Amino acid sequence: MNLNDICVRFAQPEDSRYADLVVRLIYESALQRGTGIARRSPDYITSKINGGKSVVAVHGDRLVGFSYIESWSHGDFVATSGLIVDPEYRHLGLAAAIKGKTFELARLRFPFAKIFSITTSLPVMKLNSRLGYKPVTFSELTDDDEFWQGCEGCRNYDILQRNNRRMCLCTGMLFDPQKPLVDPSTVAPEEETKSEPYMTRMKRTLTKVFKH
Ligand SMILES: CC(C)(COP(=O)(O)OP(=O)(O)OC[C@H]1O[C@@H](n2cnc3c(N)ncnc32)[C@H](O)[C@@H]1OP(=O)(O)O)[C@@H](O)C(=O)NCCC(=O)NCCS
Repeated sequence: MNLNDICVRFAQPEDSRYADLVVRLIYESALQRGTGIARRSPDYITSKINGGKSVVAVHGDRLVGFSYIESWSHGDFVATSGLIVDPEYRHLGLAAAIKGKTFELARLRFPFAKIFSITTSLPVMKLNSRLGYKPVTFSELTDDDEFWQGCEGCRNYDILQRNNRRMCLCTGMLFDPQKPLVDPSTVAPEEETKSEPYMTRMKRTLTKVFKH
């Protein structure tokens, strides 16, 4: 299997035929990992696809990966969620490609929003870090009730509730567009990003992500 044979793109309305499969892949993977996961319905996934808020990876006609975005707190925050790669297509760098495309979608649609993700997955933490996300406490994330209600289907929801939403088993990670992508104290002078135009910065970050 070669990553070049797989097309990673913004989803189109006709991709809604994949909604059932996406739900099944997410659910089966969660069962296998034994971790909690927010349950999504096929209708919910369809709304993400039709609303121009998702990314698909397709190999010919076969859906092999998916992710979506959702805005919260009246657009102040955007969450990237639901990342899934078909088990037969893992370890090819596909999650990195989908994450990169989803990040691009979030930045295009909500350029001023803080982008976040909550996850128990090491690969996802790694990919988020490469895109410039930082680990944060939940207090730095959206306080939109609807977002946290999405955790109700997770088997660890009681832990979140017990801690008044301040912490749970997931790690919160945040990309703040107001903050420089690279800590200026850790880079050589020629890599200074302060005055660099946004698109140049973004291109460099995505190049880094795809290189790995
Ligand atoms: C997590 C998941 C999306 C990774 O997909 P993938 O296409 O295999 O990932 P990639 O090939 O792009 O690898 C990305 C990085 O994660 C690492 N990685 C992938 N799977 C890993 C695993 N099971 N354990 C540890 N590291 C892993 C890779 O080595 C790579 O790191 P590197 O660039 O330093 O080598 C996939 O395993 C999956 O769909 N899992 C179930 C759903 C899930 O956990 N989603 C996240 C919920 S927040």
